[in-house]
Amino acid sequence: HSLRRATSASQQSITCRNLSSSSTPHRKVAVLGAAGGIGQPLSLLMKLNPLVSQLSLYDIAGTPGVAADVSHINTRSEVMGYVGEDQLAQALEGCDIVIIPAGVPRKPGMTRDDLFNINAGIVKGLCTAIAKYCPNALVNMISNPVNSTVPIASEVFKKAGTYDEKRLFGVTTLDVVRAKTFYAGKANVNVAEVNVPVVGGHAGITILPLFSQATPQANNLSDEVLTALTKRTQDGGTEVVEAKAGKGSATLSMAYAGALFADACMKGLNGVPDVVECSFVQSSITELPFFVSKVRLGKNGVEEVLGLGALSDYEKQGLEALLPELKSSIEKGIKFANQS
Ligand code: NAI
Repeated sequence: HSLRRATSASQQSITCRNLSSSSTPHRKVAVLGAAGGIGQPLSLLMKLNPLVSQLSLYDIAGTPGVAADVSHINTRSEVMGYVGEDQLAQALEGCDIVIIPAGVPRKPGMTRDDLFNINAGIVKGLCTAIAKYCPNALVNMISNPVNSTVPIASEVFKKAGTYDEKRLFGVTTLDVVRAKTFYAGKANVNVAEVNVPVVGGHAGITILPLFSQATPQANNLSDEVLTALTKRTQDGGTEVVEAKAGKGSATLSMAYAGALFADACMKGLNGVPDVVECSFVQSSITELPFFVSKVRLGKNGVEEVLGLGALSDYEKQGLEALLPELKSSIEKGIKFANQS
């Protein structure tokens, strides 16, 4: 409530007017890790989203400033900032969607799994609070390694008795965003029209773009080009980590991707038909308990986990190759959640 002050009285009345004149449902969205590299631009983009009515910005430090800043933007949502664990309950109460970009990012030479030791504990703590204060929220997990943090979240929710597989998502939208951009560049098609499913997981070879299903379909791409596009999509995060040379990983493109995914979740909740995004969810389309594939979003979260469709031989090989690594990352998360 220290940040209630950030929203001035006059602004509150504007907010109320906007709310009452709007027929879109009330939606409270929380960003956990809101003062970070992803958190700040993501908070900005969520403030611009007219589907949000209340924006709750939480971090262990720095949120008063971010919330005061973002709250001055004249869009629908009321912004509240919360700092420190004793304000986490308020940040979460009544949330429809909780987006989690809390945790440390990679530095050059690190894999996403190198983040496990720090981020696993952060995610476990935040999910314990979600189970307590907003058990019905859709959880959008951004914190890496996503291949392990989503299984950790599922175990925390199971222990609390609140787990619903329809409401837990690993955010892999950035892989799709990258695949679309890189494909459009090579295929010489309008990037705004491109769609490329990306399946598997969210680390290295577990990221499997399905260029054979890309639309518009380009027939001019050689096997060499498709291999290079696949590799670039898998290494897109590392490309950014190296370019930032120790100053973190993707933040701006990730904020964009996170905002897209949260928007899709809200549209689903609001009953918009045929909202389909790729996400890392509980799944039975392979032998693994979690997998990234296209998912239809609806009023309860996951409405339907869609199958993989027809794969090229190259993609079939990629699928076989990724399963052991993804399996072990999932098991690592489950083990962590149950032993500590
Ligand atoms: P950052 O270090 O700039 O920001 C992280 C924020 O989390 C900081 O403000 C920090 O205070 C906060 N934080 C730490 N512990 C917390 C806690 N217990 N509760 C709430 N907030 C807490 O890092 P950045 O660049 O924003 O990355 C965040 C995470 O997102 C990393 O794990 C990174 O690997 C991941 N990431 C995921 C991507 C994806 O595609 N899913 C893409 C890029 C990054």
